[in-house]
Amino acid sequence: MNHEKIASMFSLDGKTALIAGASRGIGEEIARVYGLAGAKLVISSRKPEGIQEAAARLREQTGAQVLAVAANISKPEDRKKLVDEAMAWAGRVDILVNNAGTNPANGPLADVQESAWDKIFEVNLKGPFILSRMIFHAWMKENGGCIINTTSIASYGTGGSLEGAYCITKSALTHLTQILASEWGKHRIRVNAIAPGVIKTRLSRALWDHPGMEHAGQNLAVPRLGEVEDIAGAALLLASKAGELINGQDIIIDNGTLVSR
Ligand SMILES: NC(=O)c1ccc[n+]([C@@H]2O[C@H](COP(=O)([O-])OP(=O)(O)OC[C@H]3O[C@@H](n4cnc5c(N)ncnc54)[C@H](OP(=O)(O)O)[C@@H]3O)[C@@H](O)[C@H]2O)c1
Repeated sequence: MNHEKIASMFSLDGKTALIAGASRGIGEEIARVYGLAGAKLVISSRKPEGIQEAAARLREQTGAQVLAVAANISKPEDRKKLVDEAMAWAGRVDILVNNAGTNPANGPLADVQESAWDKIFEVNLKGPFILSRMIFHAWMKENGGCIINTTSIASYGTGGSLEGAYCITKSALTHLTQILASEWGKHRIRVNAIAPGVIKTRLSRALWDHPGMEHAGQNLAVPRLGEVEDIAGAALLLASKAGELINGQDIIIDNGTLVSR
């Protein structure tokens, strides 16, 4: 084993990665690491200006070729546009990262609006499932590939009854990961997930950017909150040759939160 061998184990040269939910936060950082590892990038999120700005940052910082597509993962016409544009531009999608997620349904389940319930399931569960199936038919069924879903430690808990709907979608996404892994392994497709604990992003701002939250993370096994860089390394492992036998797993990256409960 030498440096070249190590580099080739983690190289994404010749691969195209589609990352949904990549204009900021965890998704943008995964795209950055994939670009630095040699992948061509297709990135998407809802807001056109946000995804174009992320594409410009990624081109400058990684030297990668980047296609930015504004698409809401919960809308059928947007999913079709995303897959069609990715295939027309790159001709292949070897790596799919279903990272877009939302939580519009805070509060006890008894009070969650039906519209919020529908939205959270559309974005966090149905979007990843349908997009995976579209990429399966467009490329991976014949050519193999790798799918990574961003779940959460919420997959493994109740969220203190304030995030019940979010927890249910993420548990289901973990289960979807396992079932697709078992169904699609014969097509040389690996399906895994990453389950972050609290990572400092816009989505989790309420958990760390509030008066009284200055010491958030200090009670964790290693006393600090997560940063987006803490997630991207595992995403590279799962997408690269180094992770070739990892399939059907949900890799928990939570700084020991679950084991400390
Ligand atoms: N941060 C944490 O502590 C944490 C912990 C556990 C799990 N997670 C999961 O990690 C993933 C990324 O979260 P993050 O913390 O990085 O959040 P973030 O900073 O808010 O980024 C979310 C990204 O997803 C996009 N997005 C949101 N809704 C979308 C939709 N319907 N269709 C397409 N794109 C959409 C956003 O861009 P637009 O607004 O332009 O659409 C943005 O690019 C989520 O699945 C989240 O559930 C986060």
